[in-house]
Amino acid sequence: MTAVLSADACRTAPIAQVSGSDLLVPLVQGGELPYANFDYAASAPALSQVTDRIAELLPTYASVHRGAGYASRISTLTYENARESVSRFLNCSEDQVVVFTRNTTDSLNLLAQCVPGSTVVLDVEHHANLLPWNDARVVTAADTVEETIERLVAELCTKPAALLAVTGASNVTGEILPIARLTEIAHRLGTRILVDAAQLAPHRRIDLQECGVDYIAFSGHKLYAPFGSGVLAGRRDWLDQAQPYLAGGGAVREVTTTSTEWACAPARHEAGSPNVLGAAAIAAACETLQALDFDAIAEHEKALTEQLTDGLSAIVGVDVVRLWADAPDAVGIVTFTVAGYEPGEIAAFLSAEHGIGVRDGRFCAHPALARLGLSGGAVRASLGLGSSSDDVQRLIDAVKILVSDQRDWNYEKTAGSWNPVPETRSFLVGSDEKAGAAECV
Ligand code: ALA
Repeated sequence: MTAVLSADACRTAPIAQVSGSDLLVPLVQGGELPYANFDYAASAPALSQVTDRIAELLPTYASVHRGAGYASRISTLTYENARESVSRFLNCSEDQVVVFTRNTTDSLNLLAQCVPGSTVVLDVEHHANLLPWNDARVVTAADTVEETIERLVAELCTKPAALLAVTGASNVTGEILPIARLTEIAHRLGTRILVDAAQLAPHRRIDLQECGVDYIAFSGHKLYAPFGSGVLAGRRDWLDQAQPYLAGGGAVREVTTTSTEWACAPARHEAGSPNVLGAAAIAAACETLQALDFDAIAEHEKALTEQLTDGLSAIVGVDVVRLWADAPDAVGIVTFTVAGYEPGEIAAFLSAEHGIGVRDGRFCAHPALARLGLSGGAVRASLGLGSSSDDVQRLIDAVKILVSDQRDWNYEKTAGSWNPVPETRSFLVGSDEKAGAAECV
């Protein structure tokens, strides 16, 4: 008999096939469970369209921009077509260029060396959007988005800045700032704007021409394309005028022993053999996300985020954290604490006894956590295309078991890290398992 799913069940089933969706993980008390992945914000599993594209390309993998062989010609075309796909995904304008990097951090470090002046940032940024800027002016975020924007305006009016660098969606809380409005404000005050879209790009449509943003950065490994590439896209002039990010082959037009003529962007900042598989993976992810439709993605995520937030908030001792009281929207990230338990202890318990993967700690956003009064860290559950309401319910139920003091195992903190004691699970897979390689826990 064919099962008929209710409208609700359909809405909260996974909406795309991702690698690891059938992964069974061992439990410390014995037995195994399907892995419940709540760590999409750190690194998302590969979309099946991405792994298919990689498998299709591997037989013709060869040098890019460097060979006349048939496979080299295919790899070169694949790489440049990937750039076109990303440009279409972002709806780049004619004067905007797509540079392939290693990840968002790499993209922001690249842009930082191109900015001809100071950069205004909020204190609640991920470290990648806080640390690279040469002349950073850090504005303390307020408790509301409205007051935070007023503070940014005050800073930009006090002294002109070349760039305003803001997060698209907080990696701590998922909250989204009003990007189009910030862009209008920045441009009115003669400042360009960069959006760190590491957390935004997997969840919401980004149209650079529509929102007017000057620069955008994101990572393949958070966009269901974990093959070592990232993207910086934006206005060509600063990128053409700056020193090359890496000096080396591929970034030049002509070299003598006494002089170098550098290429324009993107080649100027892509020295060394390009990561064609990484670029192709990002392109496949961009094409798949566009075909899935971002409205459907947002709807799926909203239902699961509400279920998780409501379920956790109803448990005595659990506190779901937010940076702002009035953020207009948020992607699927729910960060919480449980009174009486350290974040690392909670994460170790969820993993060991329930097969649930979350991230704990300060999420590479120490000032943001300090502002939330959480210098000891928190637990972050983040959702994506493969998430389902069944997984969300498992997480809620596991936290209920924790607070009712019904754990089956002991946990100890050694060298700053919580682990079940004794640990009964093996973390070796495939050839490591056969070779009996040293475990790293
Ligand atoms: N920046 C990634 C995170 O927030 C790694 O987890």
